[in-house]
Amino acid sequence: MVKVEKKWWHQTIVYQVYPRSFYDTNADGIGDLKGVIEKLDYIKSLGVTMIWLNPIFSSPNDDNGYDISDFYGIMDEFGTIEDVEELIAEAHKRDLKIMFDFVMNHTSDEHPWFIESRKSKDNPYRDFYIWKEGHDGEEPTNWEGFFGGSVWEKDEGTNEYYMHLFSKKMPDLNWESEKMRQSMYDVARFWANKGVDGLRIDAIIHIAKDHTFPQGINNTDRPYVLADQYYANLPQVHDFVKEFHQEVLMEGNLLTVGEASTAGVEEAIQYANPKNKEFDMIISFQHLSLDFDDSITYVPPKWSQKKMDLLVFKDVMERWQHGLKDKGWNTLYWNNHDMPRVVSRFGNEDKYHRESAKMLATLMYLQWGTPYILQGEEIGMTNTDYQEMSDYRDVEVFTLYREAVEKGGRSHDEIMDMIHRRSRDNARTPMQWNNEKNAGFTTGNPWMKVNRNYQNINVEKENIDADSILNYYRKLLHLKRDDECLIYGDFQFIYRNHPQVYAYTRTDAEKKYTIICNFDEQVTEVVVEEIFGEYVMGNYVDIEIKNNKLTLRPYEAHVFCKVIK
Ligand code: GLC
Ligand code: CA
Repeated sequence: MVKVEKKWWHQTIVYQVYPRSFYDTNADGIGDLKGVIEKLDYIKSLGVTMIWLNPIFSSPNDDNGYDISDFYGIMDEFGTIEDVEELIAEAHKRDLKIMFDFVMNHTSDEHPWFIESRKSKDNPYRDFYIWKEGHDGEEPTNWEGFFGGSVWEKDEGTNEYYMHLFSKKMPDLNWESEKMRQSMYDVARFWANKGVDGLRIDAIIHIAKDHTFPQGINNTDRPYVLADQYYANLPQVHDFVKEFHQEVLMEGNLLTVGEASTAGVEEAIQYANPKNKEFDMIISFQHLSLDFDDSITYVPPKWSQKKMDLLVFKDVMERWQHGLKDKGWNTLYWNNHDMPRVVSRFGNEDKYHRESAKMLATLMYLQWGTPYILQGEEIGMTNTDYQEMSDYRDVEVFTLYREAVEKGGRSHDEIMDMIHRRSRDNARTPMQWNNEKNAGFTTGNPWMKVNRNYQNINVEKENIDADSILNYYRKLLHLKRDDECLIYGDFQFIYRNHPQVYAYTRTDAEKKYTIICNFDEQVTEVVVEEIFGEYVMGNYVDIEIKNNKLTLRPYEAHVFCKVIK
């Protein structure tokens, strides 16, 4: 049994809303806060207990709200501060908590701090950001940004470079500046006092940089290289996060979730150990980086793709399931707004759409940790079917194209294929509500094209189909939420070395759950050595056990429960 002190968020199930693509109430083609309010009963019906809203603050939208120009203002297209207050109140009425997305690593270049900062070298805001001279007309270092290309942008006014780990319209803040940090804590306190229940803290592992600015060792075919060791998970990040906790969070009961893409378990233990007073949990990308093809180095790793080895995936999951035990808490997810859709990535979006979507959910969410579901996942939304560059919206897509095709000489078709499979826009297409025009997302012109498969994949249709992915999610999430054993019970793999079956048990003093999933479309079998107990749920109507062998058809998944006492 897990020995950590019980907290309300251990029982939480998070539903991620990407407001821009959720529901549009005023026909401008852009989802809005009123749209989220209108759909609260739907969200509640899923069995989730908390909503994570992607950023809703004023922004020129170079990166859909992650580039904030006023931390105290709400993005015009989304609504007003009154709408935010109404959303919080209406959510609370339904026992739904609200988590904001909070960006402290960078601002928009249109934020007043940056407008000041770039004016002159002795401007009082100069050191709110990271400025550096070039050498011999070159960038200060060869570091690569997360959207590709250099992290440095030359500013003609003062003839120095500023650093941006993301787009060039997102300059990085300088956390060495005490005044900057204090201004940031003021912002955080303001929102914490508005009644939100949690903060997801964006890109937090990057707030400290190596200010000696070493060159990165470049073994790639690209001019710049990802040099994480100089701008991710540096020891000072922990000092800053502790200070943030001290200054902003001490009094409250807020849930804090740090986005820590490249953190491993050891780092996670530091970030998420309650004793350290940093975060309550972190979101790592480690388990979702295993299908990157390392042999391809002419594009950043995330764009390439190979088949994931399930045994390696199990290694990683095992490390997290066991490593954080009694030392922190886990997050469980397949999707967020930065990744392709899981059913297209690890399932089969055509022939076994239902089976694979249900299997993937069963596999992930009954493990130890707090589930995070991305809007549309619960109906099995798939990757985009875009053919044209002009259909895409994500700034990262355009950087890739520029670096790889225009500068790097790769072929248009090859890069378009990567974009099609890997781009973040796959996760961001409008929510598919029904089979009417634009999938019921808007009566106007959607800011981003709706996936053409909305006639088949939509909430209205799945709502009345007992066997749908949607109703399966509802059942699964309610099961998880209301069962102590699925929340705190011990996790153990079974059939650990089976290359295609992902199976585990969750056990506490009273019961033992057994979860068995076929991760592939090939039929396989496992030897049944003990009675699994009562049947709880699964994605096939029957079970095939003969001569002590359980046959597993394509993407078959089952949950059993045995009462121990
Ligand atoms: C995080 C967000 C991503 C954003 C980036 C910069 O990784 O999840 O969407 O582009 O930070 O803020
Ligand atoms: Ca709107």
